Amino acid sequence: MKYTSNYFTSLAHAEHQKLSAHHDYVDKRVTSLKRGIKALRHKAELLQHLKACHLDLNGDAVTIGTRDEISDEEYDLLYTNLKDLNPWRKGPFNIFGIDIDAEWRSNRKWDRLLPHLPDLAGKVIADVGSNNGYYMFRMAHHKPKLVVGFEPYLNHFFVFHMLRQFSGLTNLEMELLGVEDMGLFGPSFDVVFLMGILYHRISPLECLKEVRDSMTPGGTLIVESQAIPGDQPVALFPEERYAKVPGTYFVPTGLCLQNWMIRAGFSDVELFCSHEMNSEEQRRTEWMEFESYSDFIDPQDHTKTVEGYPAPLRVFLKGKKPA
Ligand SMILES: C[S@@+](CC[C@H](N)C(=O)[O-])C[C@H]1O[C@@H](n2cnc3c(N)ncnc32)[C@H](O)[C@@H]1O
Repeated sequence: MKYTSNYFTSLAHAEHQKLSAHHDYVDKRVTSLKRGIKALRHKAELLQHLKACHLDLNGDAVTIGTRDEISDEEYDLLYTNLKDLNPWRKGPFNIFGIDIDAEWRSNRKWDRLLPHLPDLAGKVIADVGSNNGYYMFRMAHHKPKLVVGFEPYLNHFFVFHMLRQFSGLTNLEMELLGVEDMGLFGPSFDVVFLMGILYHRISPLECLKEVRDSMTPGGTLIVESQAIPGDQPVALFPEERYAKVPGTYFVPTGLCLQNWMIRAGFSDVELFCSHEMNSEEQRRTEWMEFESYSDFIDPQDHTKTVEGYPAPLRVFLKGKKPA
């Protein structure tokens, strides 16, 4: 399986040499003989000969292949392999007839976004924190020129490559890089999705500026974030954890996030959706057997996290990089 390609040579502003050097490093890393990495690669490559004839990227479940495209033996092997690749955080997927009911019903987030998106056809897009690529596959339905996922975790990287291999799609790429590395691409992206990221950044404003610099003039930024309720432009800064999640820094109100975007240099900033979280959208399933939303919330008072902070909302904003 190929994990890197020089697709970036078609991006005039990308740092070609640095990205080539990074790809050399990735190629070494994925072929490492370390036990954990070898095991992941083995799972990702076990059934790499399978190529789906049927693709449906427009339904709630990203559907790659159908049951009748593979033998009973391949089906059993694939089922065990996909199960071994848990936890499946983002989904749902249907892979050659196997339903993967992931922790998040990510289709709901996509449905909220869809009416507010610019035309994605022919665009160069970044999906920051792309996880297993669920949203990248949904974007592919809209015929972008290229979608680059930024995802620093190797397990998600391997799962994405397995799924892309099954799909045969050639306009989706994932980089084993974080949002802090987007500068390597220069001003290349017409649309950036920054979803579920900002509250994990120690400096959300710096993060927004790094993202802005990776965008083409006139490009669109879509931000989705955890938020606290309230009309004041303030952010909560938890002592240690927020909803049991370590590495959570600033959790803003919608207005605070709007101000961050404006002060990071975006124009036409608009908050287009705000909703409460619930345990139907994020929950434990047989494909993700660890704690989930209901374990993060005070069982006696659903307006509070287990730490006693306000329970999270999710907010959606968009803005433009001035032309
Ligand atoms: C809360 S999840 C959000 C996933 C997806 N964007 C969504 O909205 O459902 C955060 C994702 O960002 C990834 N991530 C962690 N550190 C990152 C970084 N420095 N830059 C970009 N993504 C990162 C995580 O591995 C994870 O897949």
